[in-house]
Amino acid sequence: MAAGLLERTEELGTLDAALASAAGGRGSVVLVAGEAGIGKSTLIRSFTAGPWADTRVLAGACDDLITPRTLGAVREAFSGRSPRLEELLARGARDDLLAGVLAELTDPVRPTVLVVEDVHWADDATLDVLRYVCRRVERTSAVVVVSYRDDEIGRDHPAQRLLGGLTGVPVHRLAVPHLSAAAVASLAGGTALASAELYRLTGGNPFYVTEVVADGDGAAATGAPRPRGGARRAPRTRGRWSCSTPARSSRRWRRSRSSTSSAPGRPPRSPAADCATSASARSRTVRAGPRAPTPPASRPGRSTSCACSPRGSPTGRSRHGW
Ligand SMILES: Nc1ncnc2c1ncn2[C@@H]1O[C@H](COP(=O)(O)OP(=O)(O)OP(=O)(O)O)[C@@H](O)[C@H]1O
Ligand SMILES: [Mg+2]
Repeated sequence: MAAGLLERTEELGTLDAALASAAGGRGSVVLVAGEAGIGKSTLIRSFTAGPWADTRVLAGACDDLITPRTLGAVREAFSGRSPRLEELLARGARDDLLAGVLAELTDPVRPTVLVVEDVHWADDATLDVLRYVCRRVERTSAVVVVSYRDDEIGRDHPAQRLLGGLTGVPVHRLAVPHLSAAAVASLAGGTALASAELYRLTGGNPFYVTEVVADGDGAAATGAPRPRGGARRAPRTRGRWSCSTPARSSRRWRRSRSSTSSAPGRPPRSPAADCATSASARSRTVRAGPRAPTPPASRPGRSTSCACSPRGSPTGRSRHGW
């Protein structure tokens, strides 16, 4: 399979510009949204792996726990990186912690990238820290990158207080798009599975592309599943399968394919298809052609422009656990 980051030049350009702006003393928030497996983490990793010798990268992720760990992502981000923050976290000193995180993002010498992934699983305390910091981000030297599965955040989701409450804050909103048919073909490179069929099966979701290809070329012949609604419709992540991660859904998919007998002429349903049942798919433009992987050195030049586009409104819901 061909490797490399495909069709993310524009998104990397936005992230690079945000970092350049932060280095100049104007921080911002970058919201990275998209369905499971669309490539949010891959995009963010590619950005933070850039040639930023002078940039401090702090990264944490929220987990799909039944009882979310209080401040789990914040702890992860600062673990081994800031004795002061670790001490505040150990003490549970809430007000000091809020000020402390903000201070960490206001390094006059070098910019900071703070990544908090998967806030659709965030605990309330992490959301509070993010909200506090994001609302003041402009006067920091930091880029706060927040990722989430947009189809898992409904109107009443606690994260709406963060996502909808960024009025007046420099925010870049990146909706990570599906891969084009050409990019899918490139990703599958060299397999016998016809590219058009692969694109049809996966809807351009890179996770599903890699899974179908890894599953072997026989998948198509044996009736590999396809997302409902055609190639422009995304594999969704909720519904009968309750597939909270692509990995989990993929395992179920494989199991179902080996153990479930389907009606003649009807392929077993994929998690993608099953998960499509409960969500109204947002149509996304599938780009026309593949873009070359973006080596750090050839990324678009930095710019200081910042797209401030707050939208939505807070739900007014307040839940505290710390
Ligand atoms: N732009 C891309 N080009 C090539 N491969 C990609 C691209 N984006 C993602 N992939 C592949 O798809 C897989 C899934 O991507 P990733 O884990 O980043 O998705 P995600 O949006 O973070 O999903 P989740 O919501 O489950 O965290 C990656 O392991 C990678 O192999
Ligand atoms: Mg991810």
